[in-house]
Amino acid sequence: MNGSEKNRLVNILGIAGSLRRTSYNRAALRAAQQLVPDDARLEIFELDEIPGFNEDEERQPPDKIVELKARIRKSDAILFVTPEYNYSIPGVLKNAIDWASRPYGDNVWDGKPVAVMGASIGMLGSARAQYHLRQVFVFLNMHPLNQPEVMIANAGERFGASGNPINQKTRDLIQQLLQNLVIWTRQLQKSQR
Ligand code: FNR
Repeated sequence: MNGSEKNRLVNILGIAGSLRRTSYNRAALRAAQQLVPDDARLEIFELDEIPGFNEDEERQPPDKIVELKARIRKSDAILFVTPEYNYSIPGVLKNAIDWASRPYGDNVWDGKPVAVMGASIGMLGSARAQYHLRQVFVFLNMHPLNQPEVMIANAGERFGASGNPINQKTRDLIQQLLQNLVIWTRQLQKSQR
């Protein structure tokens, strides 16, 4: 990598699939912001106030979706932080993904490098939701980072009063995920030049 490539910041857009005020997943995303490598930047997009997807509206989407699509287009990579609802992806996250994938031919996720992490109060740390999300990446034509898998189990015991993941191992894993995402993004950018 030459100097100018290294100097160019990798812009990551982080999206957590929970609207809950004290969401563990939103807390994990905020923690990721503190752990991002020096040669990258992580911005957060909140999913509140997004109406349910309606194909009748896809050509005149709500302002929030216009903004979401612009932010995705501008970013070099995506970080999804997903809770697990009924063994799958929460509706709010799938809904936002669907909006930004439409109308047909204007799927802004297309070709984006993507990493996944997630937290749940259960023992599998959102693993099932993460694998469902990875299946969705196939049709979106995103480029998922495989490892590390960051599945934060028993979230109720892992987050401090400040909402930070208190466990050092969890913080190390999130840091590694971000480092790998930046490397993966630069590799893909290089291969597309
Ligand atoms: C859950 N939860 C949950 N947990 C899990 O490990 N597996 C599951 O299938 C489900 N299913 C589920 C369904 C619904 C509708 C809710 C509301 C919750 C519990 C979930 O892990 C917990 O609520 C987390 O706190 C959600 O993430 P946030 O909001 O803290 O980020």
